[in-house]
Amino acid sequence: MCGIVGYVGNSSRKAAGHSALDVVVEGLRRLEYRGYDSAGVAVVADGTISSRKKSGKLSNLIGELEANPIPESLTGIGHTRWATHGGPTDRNAHPHLSDGGRLAVIHNGIIENFAELKQELLGKGVTFESETDTEVAAALIGDIFRTQLNDGGSLTEAMRLACQRLEGAFTLLAVHADQPDVVVAARRNSPLVVGLGEGENFLGSDVSGFIDYTRRAVELGQDQIVTISADSVEITDFFGAPAEGKEYHVDWDPASAEKGGFNSFMEKEIHDQPDAVAQTLLGRSDLDGKLTLDELRIDPELLKQVNKIIVLACGTAAYAGLVAKYAIENWCRIPTEVELAHEFRYRDPIVDSNTLVVSISQSGETMDTLMAVRYAREQGAKTISICNTNGSTIPRESDAVLYTHAGPEIAVASTKAFLAQITAAYLLGLYLAQLRGNIFSGQIKDVLADLSKIPAKIQHILDNAGPLRELARSMKDEKSVLFLGRHVGYPVALEGALKLKEIAYIHAEGFAAGELKHGPIALIDDGQPVFVVVPSPRGRDSLHSKVVSNIQEVRARGARTLVIAEEGDESVKDYAEQVFYVPETPTLLMPLLTTVPLQIFAAELAGAKGYDVDQPRNLAKSVTVE
Ligand code: G6P
Repeated sequence: MCGIVGYVGNSSRKAAGHSALDVVVEGLRRLEYRGYDSAGVAVVADGTISSRKKSGKLSNLIGELEANPIPESLTGIGHTRWATHGGPTDRNAHPHLSDGGRLAVIHNGIIENFAELKQELLGKGVTFESETDTEVAAALIGDIFRTQLNDGGSLTEAMRLACQRLEGAFTLLAVHADQPDVVVAARRNSPLVVGLGEGENFLGSDVSGFIDYTRRAVELGQDQIVTISADSVEITDFFGAPAEGKEYHVDWDPASAEKGGFNSFMEKEIHDQPDAVAQTLLGRSDLDGKLTLDELRIDPELLKQVNKIIVLACGTAAYAGLVAKYAIENWCRIPTEVELAHEFRYRDPIVDSNTLVVSISQSGETMDTLMAVRYAREQGAKTISICNTNGSTIPRESDAVLYTHAGPEIAVASTKAFLAQITAAYLLGLYLAQLRGNIFSGQIKDVLADLSKIPAKIQHILDNAGPLRELARSMKDEKSVLFLGRHVGYPVALEGALKLKEIAYIHAEGFAAGELKHGPIALIDDGQPVFVVVPSPRGRDSLHSKVVSNIQEVRARGARTLVIAEEGDESVKDYAEQVFYVPETPTLLMPLLTTVPLQIFAAELAGAKGYDVDQPRNLAKSVTVE
């Protein structure tokens, strides 16, 4: 949700080809997945600010920069927008200028008291060009810089004083023509990391903003201001007290954030899945099949006392949470609830010190999830974050983190992060069961052995997806597709429907197969396509036969049944127009396989419709507003 980049380099970096504009535009290219309603840059050069901005994707801004070049510079900022206040127009695009065009500001988040501040500034004769809350912040910083600080005042000080008056969530970056060698940034509840270079420093919404230039990053805390120059990084709180950032090494490889020969990031990320699962399993158990989650810094004695687990997440991550519920309850016998993070906080949930809250978030920045985790901590719960992004806010604010090692996920529609989240949730469930003695160590060893075979099985699905792709292309004009599943197949059905909605803009619904007869079956008409996710026939027999009955029920009413089943399951053939087989695996682990055909189907179909698979309309990858 809005990508932000800042850069300051010295002249030798520029001589080495790092011009501020190039670094900033490259950073925006990598961060564009965060929002693509507009893009803009500002650089400080020759004693003035030069800025260009354009609605639409980054390519529009690049076109504008070619048509209307801006001067070479050592200091710059850039923004890619997901619109909140004000439509996606050129005028509302960032940067916003103030102080007579000498100050430029970009922003991610929502400033909640912007209307009140705007009134105050209007009263002082300030005029506004856009409908954004950002322009109000820019005007406030400009007003403080010009009228309150007089000579000798600094942009950093103006930012501090402004932040003391701002409410809501924000990352703000500012440059001023009077202070050409610095970028000043502030963060409250919105993401920002610093990148450390030699003779240059960087700011980014996440490390992909500078991953091409440095692997040294610094985490910032809540309510902090950072001022970067080419040779220094100074961090304080909003009142000027010095603060320390925590440096860490970025282990993402820049090449892993490239398409690598695929047509889209989503296709590439679907193909990354064997690796995402393998990496998430790696090093987390010993040869005896004992789980060694040393990174979970919560006292094992406290974990033994947990009497309820609440999984909190949004979007795809919430469906990973639903899978986790089946596994954790089965292995640990601890009641486990799954809740959309934005619903949790506002319903006075029952949480105490024996509650374990497990948040799941690819980005680690989803505001709804962050706020829910904070709330749970305030109520005394223990919090564990399952997260894919090192240094992000949710893990930092949780008692412990179990990282998924899926690597950077760029496509807005989540794929490899989903499988990695499910894998990490399984590990957590097994670990809790081990700790509490719920299951024998032999059983844990068996599940780990089954998990270790999953990457090769995903690869098998990927290598044999031809008929599925053909089906997807033939269905590009469908208006509605339904998805059914039971038990762990239910979240898979929900995820299959979500993928299709997100990227192919087709009406799609996922249902618990048993719920069909309570309403959704009325939707079935001649030719209605219905995907059915069938559990293993080797598992609990009644589960399998119930789903087979559901297939028959919809088929009898004219549905076109498209079945995802386990290899060797002949029983479904008679009732399916087409069957797509996945390799054998125990029922609880099946989502790691049955999800994959549905991802491929959605990506292929959206591609056939000519849509931008990676950047679907109206969406953003990281939703940092509530
Ligand atoms: C957005 C993305 C989804 C993602 C959800 C949760 O809506 O478009 O793909 O599942 O946020 O994101 P998180 O980073 O918390 O997993």
